[in-house]
Formats: sequence, structure tokens, C-alpha cells
Amino acid sequence: MAVNYDALAVDYQAYRIPDRRISEKINTHLENAGSVLNVGAGTGSYEPRHCKVVALEPSQEMISKRGIDKAEAILGSAENIPFQDDAFEIAMGILTIHHWRNLPRGLAEMKRVARRKVVLLTWIDDSPRFWMQDYFPEMRDIDHQIFPTLTELESYLGNIKVEVVEIPEDCTDGFMCAYWKRPAAYLDHRVRAAISTFSRMSDYEAGLAKLKDDLESGEWKSKYGQLLEMNSLDLGYRLVVSEKNA
Ligand SMILES: C[S@@+](CC[C@H](N)C(=O)[O-])C[C@H]1O[C@@H](n2cnc3c(N)ncnc32)[C@H](O)[C@@H]1O
Repeated sequence: MAVNYDALAVDYQAYRIPDRRISEKINTHLENAGSVLNVGAGTGSYEPRHCKVVALEPSQEMISKRGIDKAEAILGSAENIPFQDDAFEIAMGILTIHHWRNLPRGLAEMKRVARRKVVLLTWIDDSPRFWMQDYFPEMRDIDHQIFPTLTELESYLGNIKVEVVEIPEDCTDGFMCAYWKRPAAYLDHRVRAAISTFSRMSDYEAGLAKLKDDLESGEWKSKYGQLLEMNSLDLGYRLVVSEKNA
């Protein structure tokens, strides 16, 4: 099922607050940049403040939700970036590539406009089974179809370096796996509305009802309680960096 990005934008900023620890990781790859293009920029999460930034985003609703302190935003898509070759030092794309209509074309466009490197945050399907899949079995299939593998990314980008991004227990950016240690959060429809994978599922009501029952009965804790000992977890999120002259 297609995602309505304007609908996703409604409460996006309330539930998708950039996480400080993830931001620090992203920023280590943006240091010393004079200019950055943020592709699939949404409301502007993780945009650096130390340099000139231009945001490219296809949803007018997302653009309208950007604060006045945010970088200039242009309506447009990754597949057809309206800038000349080498117009920016770095092109970044955070949790966006799985939404694109044509990934190889979008990544070729990012490479074309970036003089130095392309920086992506994405999800890679090589992580251990996550408890949410027990409640929402469609999730893995959907994510498997829309997220590229590292091999695919390498074939589109050339050289890549990959860095694990562990998700903190109190992650403020409410993406799909962010509430791994706070399962009751998924029972809140506003939390789900800020997560596009839920809108791609054909039916998740039965999974939600089971999750609610298992939280109330203690079944969730007896099955997955070992997670409550952890402060952060590798759930498959990866920073992928491709240097042009490496
Ligand atoms: C999950 S949001 C991520 C937004 C932002 N990067 C962030 O980290 O909060 C995915 C974004 O990708 C955008 N998007 C969807 N299709 C796109 C495309 N073909 N090219 C560029 N961006 C696209 C959506 O409109 C949405 O704003």
C-alpha cells in the first residue's frame, strides 16, 4: 500500500523529534562541509546547522511544517534533483530511501549533485528477529521489499562504509523500532500515525490486541523481558557513507 506523506506529516514533528545520539553520529560525517543537500528532508530532522543546507522534499505538507529556523526547502524528489552536477559538498538522506519510486535513479542523482560524499541512514535486513514481528508478521516482508540490501546499495553507490547505529532505550525519534523497550507506545494511534510501515500493513488490529493482552497479562515481559536490561540495541539501522574519491 502506498504511503500518504501529507498524512504522515500531520503529527510528524511531535513524534519524530531528532534523537541527540543519532544526530551526533550523523554529524561526524557532515563535519567540515560547506554545503549539504538534504534529500527527503521531511520537517528538517538532523539537518546540520554549521553550513549552508538546502532541503529537497516532495510533500508540501512536510515542507509547511518546517520551522522558520529551518533551511530553505524545495519541492521535489530524489529521482530528479533540480541542481547542477557537484552543486553541494554532501548529499544526505535520512530514513527516506525506502520511500523512493526509483532507488537507483535517486541515488545516482545524489551522487551527481554531491562533490564529496553521500550520507544515508537506512535499515538493513540483517538484524536478529525483533519482537514486533511476532505481533505484526507483515512487517518484515514489507520492510524486506522496500529497504535495499547493502549489496544493492554498494552496486548503486560504488564504495560504501557502513556504521551500526544502535537505538537508545529512550530514542526521541519515533520511527518503527524506536520503542523497542516501550512496547505500550505502539498502542497509541498517534505513535503509529508517525510510522509509515503501519500504513503499509493490510491489518494490524489483531496484533495490537494481542500486544495489549500480553502487556496486561505479563506475557510480553516473560518473553522479551531480557530487553529491559539493555540501554541500547542494534535493530538493523545503519549509516551508509559513500565517498566520491575514495
Ligand atoms: C520517514 S520520512 C523522513 C524525513 C526526514 N529525513 C527525517 O529524518 O525525519 C521520509 C521522507 O521521504 C520523503 N520522500 C518520499 N518519496 C520521496 C522521493 N521520491 N524523493 C525524496 N523524498 C521522498 C517523504 O515525503 C518523507 O518526508
